[in-house]
Amino acid sequence: MNRAIGVFDSGIGGLSVLRALRAELPHEHFIYIADSGHAPYGERDAAHVLARSRAIVHHLVSQNVKALVMACNTATAAAIQLLRAEHPGLALIGVEPALKPAVAFSRTGRIGVMATRGLLSSDKFQALLAAQAGKATFILQPCDGLAHAIEASAKTGDTTETIALCARYTSTIGLFGTENDQIDTLVLGCTHYPLASDQLRALLGSGVQLVDNGEAVARQARQRLLPGPTPIHPPPGRVSLLATGDPQTLQAAARRWLSLSAPVTLLDI
Ligand code: DGL
Repeated sequence: MNRAIGVFDSGIGGLSVLRALRAELPHEHFIYIADSGHAPYGERDAAHVLARSRAIVHHLVSQNVKALVMACNTATAAAIQLLRAEHPGLALIGVEPALKPAVAFSRTGRIGVMATRGLLSSDKFQALLAAQAGKATFILQPCDGLAHAIEASAKTGDTTETIALCARYTSTIGLFGTENDQIDTLVLGCTHYPLASDQLRALLGSGVQLVDNGEAVARQARQRLLPGPTPIHPPPGRVSLLATGDPQTLQAAARRWLSLSAPVTLLDI
């Protein structure tokens, strides 16, 4: 039996990671959980994020998943260490802001980082930042409300609030561009933000590099999974979608960003 890979986020943001996972592992089955009934994670305390991550990991383990991807920077920072200790046999993969790849991309050495308040204040992020000390200048921007605005726009199609918040936060970070003193690279440190990359590109211009870790996480997942016997013509993998809050938002987002028209089941955990 081909066991599924579990993937979760506070909402639709993890779809940006699921998209990369499906491209990398097209024959795998996935169970995706949007914990939208308990979101946003990034503006709640770490204890809340840990408790929710624990409940979701517990549920996915009960579904016999063969690996689990925490497709959320905020949850990874708050919970991955403890959950790895609690589930020593589980392949548990997290996502972190792509600071190191950003250093490699940047020519000007000035890098913006958009992320949730919770992630930026976590010890895990501070350690990640310290590892890049002296290699570039990072300008950190907590983006309250942006994940929520992206959720709302997925349902209504109205991106006005997303554009307004992206404009406000990027202008606070500073002047973007490719001149020496300008910020030429922007790290999308929340899995929701790649879903607003069209809006960010329109604001910042094509010279600015947007970096996220979705594809790197997908490659890591492929390496972690033991290759099973491959049938000659393996069927495409299935995706089950579950949400602890409004199912319509996840359904609309999956259709829009993954061309997936699967039904969404309401999950009460
Ligand atoms: N998508 C999540 C992340 O990567 C957080 C969004 C939220 O605040 O719930 O950090």
